[in-house]
Amino acid sequence: MPEKVLVTREIPAAGLRPLQDFDLTVLSEAPPERDELLEAARGAAGVLSNVTEGIDAEFMDAAGDGLKVVANMAVGYDNVDVDAADERGIIVTNTPGVLDETTADTAFMLLLAAARRLGESERTLRAGDWEWWGPKLFVGVDVWGKKLGIVGLGRIGQAVARRGKGFGMEILYHNRSRNEDAERAFDARHADLDELLETADFVSVHTPLTDETQHLIGPEELAKMKPTAVLVNTSRGPVVNEEALADALADGRIFAAGLDVYENEPQVHPKLLGLENAVLAPHIGSGSTETRNRMAVLAAENIVAVLSGEEPKTPVGV
Ligand code: GLV
Repeated sequence: MPEKVLVTREIPAAGLRPLQDFDLTVLSEAPPERDELLEAARGAAGVLSNVTEGIDAEFMDAAGDGLKVVANMAVGYDNVDVDAADERGIIVTNTPGVLDETTADTAFMLLLAAARRLGESERTLRAGDWEWWGPKLFVGVDVWGKKLGIVGLGRIGQAVARRGKGFGMEILYHNRSRNEDAERAFDARHADLDELLETADFVSVHTPLTDETQHLIGPEELAKMKPTAVLVNTSRGPVVNEEALADALADGRIFAAGLDVYENEPQVHPKLLGLENAVLAPHIGSGSTETRNRMAVLAAENIVAVLSGEEPKTPVGV
């Protein structure tokens, strides 16, 4: 009897192919209801999950003792209780390395759009309210030659640094530890968070969500930023205090923000929705066809490896 594998959402076909010899259940395009998810998990040996599913102790117990691997189709795995998995001997994997450039593209897209007021000016045009070219109309701030502060210089942060170099930007970064190779590659300088916030023209956040990074950027941090500065977040919503950010944007204490992630997705703070200087994307950081294919295939290959008794390609560290 083939083992049961649950895929919690519809994924690209390329990701289903490696799983075709299993007893495969693929749930819907939209996130499943919790009851449906728990019911579908029963008896699964492998689960290919997405960021929308809470893979916690309750889920693992619903799946039962046969669950061997949870392959999260994302680089972030804050939706998976890794300790609970570890206690039950369940291997958790993620999809690092295949989405760095695409996510960095998203960060830069938001950075440019926020700096040059693309959202606001496009909304005006579409509403039929664009009356004339104007010397003072929709002027933003320059990106080229400015100082880019990267919070979290991991793989994605480095891909953003490379883009910044291409725009002639000076790179500053904040990390728990220095990365001298990256410093050489991007002429980057390590800084403490305060210095980065006080001096950067653009602050782009690339940390995973952990107990330490929850609300890393809150009212006090925002108060340190320049009034001309732009904040970009493509990591996880709760790393930034959304209410504090909305207030800072509304009061003009910072110039603009470009956001792809939110504290309570898919809800977006109502204050942010009303702000012209917030560019808001619906968590599409890794959303290119090529990258979503790569993520799906890697997640599936991790399941195949574990269920074949081999080492997974990309297990997460506990
Ligand atoms: C998406 O949010 C990811 O973590 O890959």
